[in-house]
Amino acid sequence: MQIKHLVFIAILFTACSVQKKENYQSIITGIPWYIEDGNNVSAHGANIIREGDRYYLFGEYKNNENNRFEGFSCYSSSDLMNWKFESNAMPPNKSGRLSGAECIGERPKVMKCPTTGEFIMYMHADSNLYRNPAVEYAVSKNITGPYEYKGRLMFGDTYIRRWDMGTFQDDDGTGYIIMHHGDIYKLSDDYKSVVAQTLKHDKTLRTESPAVFKHNGIYYWIGSGLTGWERNDNMYFTAKSLAGPWEMRGVIAPEGSLTWNSQSTYVFPVVGSETTTFIYMGDRWSFPKQRAAATYVWQPLVFNGDEISMPVFHESWTIDVKTGEWKDVPLKPAYEILNGDDAVKYEGSWEDASGDNTKSKRANTKDAIISISFKGSRIALRGVASIDCGYGHVVIQNIKGEILHDTWIDMYSNKTVEGLQYLSPVLPKGEYFLTFSPTQSHWYWTEKSGKQWGSKDTFISFSKAWVF
Ligand code: GAL
Repeated sequence: MQIKHLVFIAILFTACSVQKKENYQSIITGIPWYIEDGNNVSAHGANIIREGDRYYLFGEYKNNENNRFEGFSCYSSSDLMNWKFESNAMPPNKSGRLSGAECIGERPKVMKCPTTGEFIMYMHADSNLYRNPAVEYAVSKNITGPYEYKGRLMFGDTYIRRWDMGTFQDDDGTGYIIMHHGDIYKLSDDYKSVVAQTLKHDKTLRTESPAVFKHNGIYYWIGSGLTGWERNDNMYFTAKSLAGPWEMRGVIAPEGSLTWNSQSTYVFPVVGSETTTFIYMGDRWSFPKQRAAATYVWQPLVFNGDEISMPVFHESWTIDVKTGEWKDVPLKPAYEILNGDDAVKYEGSWEDASGDNTKSKRANTKDAIISISFKGSRIALRGVASIDCGYGHVVIQNIKGEILHDTWIDMYSNKTVEGLQYLSPVLPKGEYFLTFSPTQSHWYWTEKSGKQWGSKDTFISFSKAWVF
């Protein structure tokens, strides 16, 4: 073989063995996730289904201004960590329900009908003040859509006039619609209508955001308390049959952790060669900046006999989709930048946080801004989230002053907790400049009754940056 052929083979070999570096090496809870172009993964009230060797995530596609229906998004992934935007699988209708005028669309759930092979998307559709709820559905031959909107899911000549919903597919392929406050409906063979009510207003199951799954022949129901988008301690219930009796079993995360600051939406079993891991999927809502600042709380459920729990918070963990096994994988920065380091400049009024040992600084005035210079390909911000925190504005520029990322993060937490607040998309290796400033706004939500939920003030906090 001639030398030039050997060189060619060597180059080819090197090119093939340089693996594309994926954005995420773990599932990270409580920070916005970005797709490759720097846009947010926006899929709340979500579910996941597996088709072939890919996972498909469906959810509410949010905006940063209001609660108008923007469609239901579809993302796909081979590893449950890196998501690719596939489509706005069911965009808003041109008129009528789920259009600009009747604008609430929530909690989409997709199931594949075993008898027809079609994908059916179920949803909570409503008028803009949540006064005209119904379970509705849409159909597609392709998993990524477009889903054709069909309107109400009928049960004889009536329909399900309720709001928070979920779905469950039993081992025999029977599909069910799960409703808040303990209603379960059995679907027809083609999944396009309801044929029976399996459970009616079960008094034990007085919860919203229902998520039902099955393990070792036992049915589990996870649901939240009734505090709108505010977090609370979600509870779980078990039964030997969907028709009950259902037994209240307690909280799924330590009491007071407010389900690690989340509301349930779905439980996804990752069935592997060694084990099955059940992923609790929850939302950390953030109205009105839901697109940018609402995040995901995905945690492995721990089984002890027929008890479930999430006793320890896993900030960063991975799941091997082949074996089904999961493990903690703490983030490992190349270096840290702390308050007081030369790389951090402060403008405006920053105060030392009292009563915590994180040496964090906080600010909420208009002129406050922190600037951080760093060299690397990625940066993370850590800070102390608390009840008086609001939205922070994050901007990353290169040395030419070009803006590479510009977004908001939400630092509110009912319970004071130091943690990861932001992890930038991967940038080409280089020298950058990050600014972080308060926006003097925070998440809030006013219920129909007038009760206001959310943050009490607009502070942001910085404890350290991690550079990768
Ligand atoms: C919650 C519900 C969410 C959303 C929210 C609006 O109770 O689970 O899906 O509807 O209220 O306040």
